[in-house]
Amino acid sequence: MDSFLIRGGIPLKGEITVSGSKNAALPILMASIAVDGEVHYGNVPDLRDIRTTIRLLNILGRQTTWKDGHACVCNGEMGIEAPYDLVKTMRASVLCLGPLLARKREARVSLPGGCAIGARPVDQHLLALEEMGAHFDLQNGYIHGVCPDGLKGAHFSFAMPTVGGTENALMAACLAQGETVMENVAREPEIVDLANFLNRCGAHIEGQGSSVITVRGVERLYGCSYDIMPDRIEAGTFLVAAGVTGGELLVKNCPSGDMAAVIGKLREAGMVIEEQQGGLLASAPSPLKSVDISTQPHPGFPTDMQAQLMVLLCCAEGSGMVKENIFENRFMHVQELVRMGADIQVNGSSALVRGGRKLEGAPVMASDLRAGAALVLAGLAAEGETKVQRVYHIDRGYDHLVDKLSAVGADIRRVNEQD
Ligand code: EPZ
Repeated sequence: MDSFLIRGGIPLKGEITVSGSKNAALPILMASIAVDGEVHYGNVPDLRDIRTTIRLLNILGRQTTWKDGHACVCNGEMGIEAPYDLVKTMRASVLCLGPLLARKREARVSLPGGCAIGARPVDQHLLALEEMGAHFDLQNGYIHGVCPDGLKGAHFSFAMPTVGGTENALMAACLAQGETVMENVAREPEIVDLANFLNRCGAHIEGQGSSVITVRGVERLYGCSYDIMPDRIEAGTFLVAAGVTGGELLVKNCPSGDMAAVIGKLREAGMVIEEQQGGLLASAPSPLKSVDISTQPHPGFPTDMQAQLMVLLCCAEGSGMVKENIFENRFMHVQELVRMGADIQVNGSSALVRGGRKLEGAPVMASDLRAGAALVLAGLAAEGETKVQRVYHIDRGYDHLVDKLSAVGADIRRVNEQD
C-alpha cells in the first residue's frame, strides 16, 4: 500500500487548479444507465471512485471509456446486477438502483455496507422508490427491486435531506409515468448538476437546489455531451492548505458560488479570500483565530470539510468547538491529529480543539477520504516529517494531489510500503 511522505513547514505559494467534482461525477455517470443513447462527459476527474464507476458501467454492459478527463458511455443492452465485489469498494454504487429500475424495471444491487464514518443506511432510497411503485426484497445481501409495470409519479417527503436518496429518486422519476413531487430533498450543488445533466438529456426537472423538486416523467432520455462541475470540497481543502501553511494560493476553477459557508468560516478565522483572475486568492497574513463549526446539509457548513477545518483550528489561536451533525462517527482523524501533538477532546458528536500549538510530524494512518486529506494538511503544517499511510482512501477523491501540492512548493512524495 502507498503512503505520502511530507516534510512540513513550507508556505505554499502559486496557482492550483480544481478538478471535476467526485460527488457530481458519480451520480451523473450512473445516470447514463437511464439514457437511451451515447453520452460524452468532460471535466471527469482521475479518481479511484471514477474508475470503479466505469468498471460498474462496463459490467452492466455499457461500454465505457475514460481518457484525459473525458468519458464516453456507449449505448447498448444492459444487465441489472451490481455485484458485491464492486459495491464493497464503493458505496455510491447504490446510485445505479434508481436508473436501473427506471430503464430495466428490475435491479439487483449488493446492499452497501457501512464505512468508517457511519452505518450509511439506504432506507430512504428504498422508501422513495417504493412510493414510485418499486417492490424490494433482500436476497443474500442483495437488494432486489422490481417494477414490472414501470415506475409511477408520486408525491413524498424524505425523513432527512439525503444526497444519495435524492439522487436515486431523481434519476428514477425522470422515466416514471406522470409527475413526481419530492419534498425535504437535499440541496447540494452536485444534485443541481445532476438535474442539469438529466434535463440536457430531455428530462423535465424543476426546483433543483431548493427543498422541493418536481419531475414530469418522459418516455426516454437522449444521449448528450456534458461537463462535470468543479469539486467544491477539493477547492475548500486547498483554501485550508493556504491557511495552515501561511502561504498564498490562487485556487483556479473554484465553484465559489457553492462555497459560501466554507469561505465565511475561513474569513471568520482570519484568512483573506478574494475573487481574482477566475479563482480565489487565499492567504493567512495574520495568526489564525479559532472558530466554531457545526456541520449541516447544504447550504450549511459541509460535513466533508469538517476534518480539514479541524486542522486549521489546531493551527489557530484559542479554542474552537466542532459539532458533527451528519455522520455518527466522523472523528476518526482526531486520534491521528493527537499523535501529532494536537489538543482535541471528543465528547459524543462534539470535539473541542485547543489551538496555539505547533503540530509535529509523525507516522499517521488515513481511515477515510476526508480524514486522509486532513492528515495531509496537518503534515504540511507540522514541523518535521509526516508519513500518511493507506493513501488509497485519498486517491478515491483527490485527483493527482501530490503533483498539485508539489507544484506550489510542498515537500510531498508518494512512497510504496515496500520502499
Ligand atoms: C453523500 O453521501 C456524499 N457522497 C458524502 O461525501 C457526503 O458526506 C454526504 O453526501 C453528505 O453530504 C457522495 O455524494 C458520493 P446522505 P450520502 O445520504 O449520499 C442518513 C465524501 O467524502 N441517511 O446525504 O451517502 C445518513 O446515515 C463523501 O466525498 C439515512 O439515514 O449521504 C447520514 O447520517 C463522504 N438513510 C445522513 O442521512 C438513508 O437512506 C446524510 O447521508 C440515507 C441517508
